[in-house]
Amino acid sequence: MTDRHDARSWETFLPPTYKWLESLDVSVTTDLPSQSCLIIPVKYDDGIDLAGTKLAADKRKLIEVQAKSAGWRGKGSEFLCVGDQTVLLVPVAKLDVGAVRLSREAGFSAAKATGSREFETVVFVDNGDYSALSAFEGYCQGAYSQGLFKGEAEKKSLPKKITLLEPGVKAAAVAEVKSLSRALLFTRMLQDAPANWLTPERWGKIAMDYFRTKSVEVSVLGRSELLALNMGSFLSVASGSPLDPKLISIKINGKKPGKRVALVGKGLTFDAGGISIKPSLGMGEMKYDMSGGAAVMGAAHFLCDHQPEVDVHCIIGAVENMPSGTATRPGDIVQARNGKTIEVLNTDAEGRLVLADLLCYAAEAKPNLIIDLATLTGAVLQGLGSAGAGLMANKDEVAAYIMNVGRKMGEPFWQLPLWPELAAEVKSDCADLKNIAKPNVMAGTIIGGIFLKEFVPDSIPWAHMDIAGTGWNCAATGYPKSGGSGFAVRTIAEICRHFEL
Ligand code: BES
Ligand code: ZN
Ligand code: ZN
Repeated sequence: MTDRHDARSWETFLPPTYKWLESLDVSVTTDLPSQSCLIIPVKYDDGIDLAGTKLAADKRKLIEVQAKSAGWRGKGSEFLCVGDQTVLLVPVAKLDVGAVRLSREAGFSAAKATGSREFETVVFVDNGDYSALSAFEGYCQGAYSQGLFKGEAEKKSLPKKITLLEPGVKAAAVAEVKSLSRALLFTRMLQDAPANWLTPERWGKIAMDYFRTKSVEVSVLGRSELLALNMGSFLSVASGSPLDPKLISIKINGKKPGKRVALVGKGLTFDAGGISIKPSLGMGEMKYDMSGGAAVMGAAHFLCDHQPEVDVHCIIGAVENMPSGTATRPGDIVQARNGKTIEVLNTDAEGRLVLADLLCYAAEAKPNLIIDLATLTGAVLQGLGSAGAGLMANKDEVAAYIMNVGRKMGEPFWQLPLWPELAAEVKSDCADLKNIAKPNVMAGTIIGGIFLKEFVPDSIPWAHMDIAGTGWNCAATGYPKSGGSGFAVRTIAEICRHFEL
């Protein structure tokens, strides 16, 4: 059997931080509670200067003097005892990536540094450009641990209260950060879960259980329904596995009906490559091949708390790609929902086969924008590394809009061109299309985008995010450096919440 037998409900695997945030008391004040831990992001420049904080002058001076006598030179976090308070100085990196991401990163490191120490209250101190609210956002992610599947739960103590020493922060902004943080934790839990636990079926159940309690429409389709929908391309990826593939759909109503956004996610719960099997070294990482789908579900989680402006249709293709006697063979020809036939020359280029059908499906409601998210190509890692994701679009304005939202949300994207000349490279002699180009063509990430473009009518604005480099072990500032990152959740959630295209 390929399922991890576990009678416990999926909720038991949610990270403690997720439950903690649900009832957490976060206050915005200038009063310092006693016995608390103060977290201060500091840019070290031949000494420290806390003039940008709202701390009382005498307190500030005391901290500055103590930091100096402790010999702190901005390398690593430093604990100080100042009166009845613990102060944690967190160095801010000297990188030109914007204060929001630097503040998040500082909060993230603070959570790691405070680790098992117990504090009744943790106070985030706003320091000039470095926002306390953003540091708190980073802290929530830093307090997450990948050890959800350890036999014995890890000991972590989380504070009972959070205080933000940042006058002017509105309750609504705090609520949004709390809800975004929970959505990110939910996403990362799905990402980090092993493939024998997060099967397409269990994922479908999670979606049903969670979203049924919200006022949204959720449905989960299986093999026979996908067949009825003529999704032969999606189904061909499932043929090697005994597990039923699932199409998870979540529809969220917007405040202003009329405009629609579709979010489409690649949800390969495992990608062994199929008959074009992957090398064994590092294959375990392919449990993360569902990161696009997880990000879409994370955005849906957030949008249930904060109603989007537009109607949002989330579509996730959950399936595993396995080799077996029933698996798709290289050379097989399959047919997608829009009638186009595809010669499958490499069964490891399976993400595009799943997305082909999902994009046709998404386009039928004529949305104002379709965004697909996928860990589509190893090539994006070669080209862009792990500090930002690849972005392609059928119109430059669409790419520019998304890049801008990404910049605002602290999520870096880089646009790659869908060179018109390369469209011929995915045409096949014996079918309409083939799922890979000849090796000399190179440009693997662009070819992936060019193949997907065949399944979206030109009249519909569409963008493709290749998050294979950033979905896990992400190198971008403000992201967890190992395990699932939740990358792209912020951007897609913001696009739906304040749609401006
Ligand atoms: N899931 C992989 C892409 C991937 C590779 C993600 C490494 C993260 C890290 C995808 O399904 C795949 O195998 N793509 C192939 C495409 C190729 C056969 C054209 C690849 O990138 O090698
Ligand atoms: Zn693959
Ligand atoms: Zn894949």
